[in-house]
Amino acid sequence: MATATTVMEPNVKISATKLLINGQWVNSASGKTFPSINPSTGEELARIAEADAADVDKAVSAARAAFEKGPWRKMTASQRGNLMFKLADLIEKNLDELAQLEALDNGKPYSVARGADLPLTIACYRYYAGWADKLQGKTIPVNGNYFTYTKHEPVGVVAQIIPWNFPLLMQAWKLGPALATGCTVVMKPAEQTPLSALRVGELALEAGFPPGVLNLLPGYGPTAGAALARHMDVDKVAFTGSTEVGHLVMKAAAESNLKRVTLELGGKSPNIVFADADMDKAIEGSHFALFFNQGQCCCAGSRTFVEDKVYDEFVERSAARAKKRTVGNPFDKNTEQGPQVDQEQFTKVMGYIDSGKQQAKLMAGGNRVGDKGFFIEPTVFSDVKDDMKIAQEEIFGPVMSILRFKDISEVVERANKSLYGLAAAVWTQDITKAHAIADNVRAGTVWVNCYDVFDAAAPFGGFKQSGIGRELGEYGLANYTEVKTVTIKL
Ligand code: NAI
Ligand code: MG
Repeated sequence: MATATTVMEPNVKISATKLLINGQWVNSASGKTFPSINPSTGEELARIAEADAADVDKAVSAARAAFEKGPWRKMTASQRGNLMFKLADLIEKNLDELAQLEALDNGKPYSVARGADLPLTIACYRYYAGWADKLQGKTIPVNGNYFTYTKHEPVGVVAQIIPWNFPLLMQAWKLGPALATGCTVVMKPAEQTPLSALRVGELALEAGFPPGVLNLLPGYGPTAGAALARHMDVDKVAFTGSTEVGHLVMKAAAESNLKRVTLELGGKSPNIVFADADMDKAIEGSHFALFFNQGQCCCAGSRTFVEDKVYDEFVERSAARAKKRTVGNPFDKNTEQGPQVDQEQFTKVMGYIDSGKQQAKLMAGGNRVGDKGFFIEPTVFSDVKDDMKIAQEEIFGPVMSILRFKDISEVVERANKSLYGLAAAVWTQDITKAHAIADNVRAGTVWVNCYDVFDAAAPFGGFKQSGIGRELGEYGLANYTEVKTVTIKL
């Protein structure tokens, strides 16, 4: 329960609400604005300049000029890295303000923004800052009297389209490798959560990034986002969001200039619990795997497979845990779960809950919380079957689906029967079983006896329709460079 002593009053001023183009904060060409909504109340937080195709043209020209002629081009790699370290320091200095913006705009608990989103964001900028002067080519022993070497050059002007579930962190995952490699960027934050990304734009100017290196265009997907994806002068587009829009982005790239495409899309990740697992840890870990961030994680453990022998115990204890999960004001330090990000997501998730009620067994939750904002009860379904809608489609909300399995070969086959392949997890004390799952499940990340362990150094991305390419780590840099081969006659 919220009490006066555990609730904090947000006290942040919203300063950045315009487009950042060529180092200037400007209104959109159309003069249009859109509201950013507080999902806890449904009320407007700020009006934001709304970018569209004309603004995309301006920002892309600025990014092109900065890439080809500006001081960014002439800077040494270590100078670039130093600017990124400076940005990380400024984010750290303004950590509390940014955590408040994130909680206001996205609805996630302030304590989580402070304790997880912000530290991971800062670590990501520092990790990639360190890479700036460590990108090296090779010397190649070719036949004949030639000296051949490779260089890793920046791919050029990069469009980055990001979602609303981890606004600051998704911005960092995208900007980190792009800036480290010397690209210039036109980024479109999600329309639901533009505030923290714009504030980082202010901090980037304060850090001293030259004009045009980072351009920010808040706006909607079908207008500003689509204009970026089809732009003839964008060399690469990086997108995180729904698989549906991933298809559109790739199509736009194919139909325009064959810009490079990396995609980080949806998931329906299997979380597999064997009877020999440490049950306390498996139950808490599986709860976290699904409910973290209001269930709005691309890698959420949204198909909880539990071995026959422990199924009933697991279901009962998971339902009890879900009923204890505290839902409410993101600024109450006892809150574990805030609202869903917007009306659209709320309605979508409630639709899946209705479908689950008709096909599976409701063990916890199933309703809206309160009558204001977009809060949903932590919901658990048991007796879920593979062909049910809630077992196949990405729900992106606080809805746990628990499926029963008998043996390892069966669970591997069922785990892989999905168009997605983003993540998977296994809970067991038996290292042979753990390896069998890690080897045979087709997913970009496999967690063993843990979930959602992220590190800027560890690559992340999807098999199958969960995406193309990897973000983070050394692998994440390859998306932002072109390899140039130079051959010299000796
Ligand atoms: P979305 O894929 O529509 O939006 C993600 C980003 O893409 C936003 O910045 C949006 O403005 C932009 N966008 C939308 N249409 C576009 C277009 N035609 N061209 C270029 N950019 C476009 O996702 P949305 O509508 O917010 O959520 C729908 C579902 O997508 C969620 O319920 C969830 O299942 C999934 N999703 C997955 C995410 C992930 O992390 N992989 C993140 C957000 C949503
Ligand atoms: Mg959409």
